Amino acid sequence: MARREEQKKILCVGLVCLDIISVVEEFPREDSDSRCLSQRWQRGGNASNSCTVLSLLGSPCAFMGSLCAGPVASFILEDFQKFRVDASLLRKRGGAAPTSIVISNHGTGSRTIVHANSNIAEVTSEDFDAVDLSAFKWIHWEGRNADEQVKMMARVERHNQTVAPEQRIVVSVEIEKPREELYRLFPCADVVFASKDVARHLGFGTPADALRGLRPRLRPGAVLICAWAEQGADAADGDGTPLHSDAFPPERLLDTLGAGDTFNAAVIHRLAGGAPLREALTFGCKVAGAKCGFHGYDDIARAALD
Ligand code: ADP
Ligand code: FRU
Repeated sequence: MARREEQKKILCVGLVCLDIISVVEEFPREDSDSRCLSQRWQRGGNASNSCTVLSLLGSPCAFMGSLCAGPVASFILEDFQKFRVDASLLRKRGGAAPTSIVISNHGTGSRTIVHANSNIAEVTSEDFDAVDLSAFKWIHWEGRNADEQVKMMARVERHNQTVAPEQRIVVSVEIEKPREELYRLFPCADVVFASKDVARHLGFGTPADALRGLRPRLRPGAVLICAWAEQGADAADGDGTPLHSDAFPPERLLDTLGAGDTFNAAVIHRLAGGAPLREALTFGCKVAGAKCGFHGYDDIARAALD
């Protein structure tokens, strides 16, 4: 029997890694030796962070990505559990867990990331073929191994042609890194999140230019969303109507790590709940802006209520 729509989850496919975060009073000089204010381990990775936020906002969600065995894996699994993210679609791989060293500047809120990834095998379309699509109402991809991800999205497209319109799965994709191979993903989704780095790399200096310039790359009727840090975010609806939300800066910028992942999750949470794009865009900026005012994600639910 088909699952009731409201019981269905949002699935995010992409990276999970370990973030080792040192909060510093001021950015260290090269070749200096200093103490940080505090240090913590945090589960990271764009798709994994977006799951944390979706769950805290009240959207049941699941994560699919690769995980290497070892102590880092235990930490990651426990953390998924803590935040009630369904991790049953994790694929076990050999090798070392991807890890980021993050310097989080208490004075400015900036986050400087040095990421280590020994190229562990990503989720393939074969892995994805085993996923029971009827469990999901929305699937979000963090653009990574585009060749495989295009095939996964095509499977969802075929599935959608066999079900009633209200049971169709919405597909979204984040194109964050300015890498040519990822641009193949533009026409594969209903909702595309393109970063300002990608927009700039493709020659667009403002969000409005990016919306106009990137539109021909999308499939007809798709939504394009472009977040632009302290300038907020812009979007174009399926018919090309441009929308803008200002940013909502916190009283004090403390931690911008994962602001984009928070924004994506908050927008998806609202759109999946049936809200209009304009409302989802404003909500995304509100929650992401509030997130920049505290460390980590624990206070997201409170931020969404304010
Ligand atoms: P990232 O670099 O983490 O991918 P972005 O810079 O694209 O994220 O920002 C995502 C969203 O987070 C923005 O649309 C904005 O709403 C919010 N945001 C990010 N930085 C700030 C800031 N300094 N002040 C207020 N809001 C911010
Ligand atoms: C934040 C983040 C971190 C991770 C890094 C990977 O957006 O996902 O959690 O270390 O980016 O690029």
